[in-house]
Amino acid sequence: MQEPTYRVAIIGTGGIANHHAGYYAKHPRTTIVAAADIRPDALAAFCEKHNVPARYTDYRELLEKEQPDLVSVCTWTATHPEVTIAAAEAGVRGILSEKPMSAHLGDARRMVAVCQSRGIPLAIHHQRRFEPGLVEARKRIAAGQIGVPLAGNFRTVGGFLNNGTHGVDFHRYLLGDPAPEWVMTQLERRTNRYERGVLVEDRILSSIRFENGYTLTIEVDMDEKPASHWWVFGTEGTIRFGQGGTVLFARGEPEPLAAESGPGPLDELIAWIEGGPESRNAGHVALVAHEIMMASYESARTRSRVRVPLDAGVERSPLYTMHEEGLLPVSGPAYDIRSLDALRYAFEREGIPLTGEEYLEGQGNWTGQGLAGQVRK
Ligand SMILES: NC(=O)c1ccc[n+]([C@@H]2O[C@H](COP(=O)([O-])OP(=O)(O)OC[C@H]3O[C@@H](n4cnc5c(N)ncnc54)[C@H](O)[C@@H]3O)[C@@H](O)[C@H]2O)c1
Repeated sequence: MQEPTYRVAIIGTGGIANHHAGYYAKHPRTTIVAAADIRPDALAAFCEKHNVPARYTDYRELLEKEQPDLVSVCTWTATHPEVTIAAAEAGVRGILSEKPMSAHLGDARRMVAVCQSRGIPLAIHHQRRFEPGLVEARKRIAAGQIGVPLAGNFRTVGGFLNNGTHGVDFHRYLLGDPAPEWVMTQLERRTNRYERGVLVEDRILSSIRFENGYTLTIEVDMDEKPASHWWVFGTEGTIRFGQGGTVLFARGEPEPLAAESGPGPLDELIAWIEGGPESRNAGHVALVAHEIMMASYESARTRSRVRVPLDAGVERSPLYTMHEEGLLPVSGPAYDIRSLDALRYAFEREGIPLTGEEYLEGQGNWTGQGLAGQVRK
């Protein structure tokens, strides 16, 4: 019997949607049948580039009319839960949703719960779990090549939720997905900074303790340079990722870790749909990283060590709560380090009036640090 072909819909047709389209173009059993975006220009450009036949400006209409098998959720972060839940309710067979899961917590928990209760495989696109060097590093750590892992560090720019989510998530992957115990965090938000419409700190430093005693320190936007690196320190060696790739330092000469590429996020999602093991990107796995980040914000809010996960009743991001409680006074206008459209959309959704003079865009300044510096002066 011929294996089925999956009819795919892509919701949100900006930058990352092209990456998803690449997965579907390469996979022999997927075909993109429709796409949706609230911005007709972005929609038209994407559909022409990827030969997508059906276009919608309302994703709910797409779900109803096209009844896709697979959906990629590539919209701005705050909308991932509502789009994912609508796709699940429309009866799709599998969902690949972008990271971070949401701007908040309650809705991220709900998107996982709704998909689980309907038996719909939900994968969150933390694709670094599939990077060959990282996969090899995980094997070496499990084989004891650096002894007992004690501590790690991840440094990046562009916002804690936006890029920190990769660091938290893949660090868990490196260590065999240990459960978190507590977090201790400090952050600064003196400028009215947003990232694709999501409230974001100017800089943050968070220590995360796992059940196995391992401590991960995450630094986001502490430096202006958009360099990203990670380290895992063990009793008998270290593994580093930075310029030069992933390198193992244990007994003897440093060893660059290269490996064959294996399956990707789409391969594992389809295998899962067809009764195979769940994807390493399963929604409940990604949710642990989201819980850690939300608990980190709560730690900064309460100025204390906070256990992970937060109480079941916590809905809103504690960063928003801090902002709304006036604990983070800012100077200067709201600005977005990635997308002015996303900022406008977010303010509209929150019912906050925003006029031309009140916001600035990051003007291609990806880290926003330069702009933050100007506003601070
Ligand atoms: N996995 C990764 O490494 C990675 C990399 C880049 C972006 N992302 C994530 O992907 C998401 C999108 O980022 P991007 O860079 O593609 O942004 P983008 O601004 O380029 O594109 C997002 C698109 O979604 C559309 N959109 C927003 N709300 C919508 C709605 N309700 N219905 C239909 N369309 C809607 C926008 O009009 C826009 O065209 C973000 O959450 C981001 O964090 C992940």
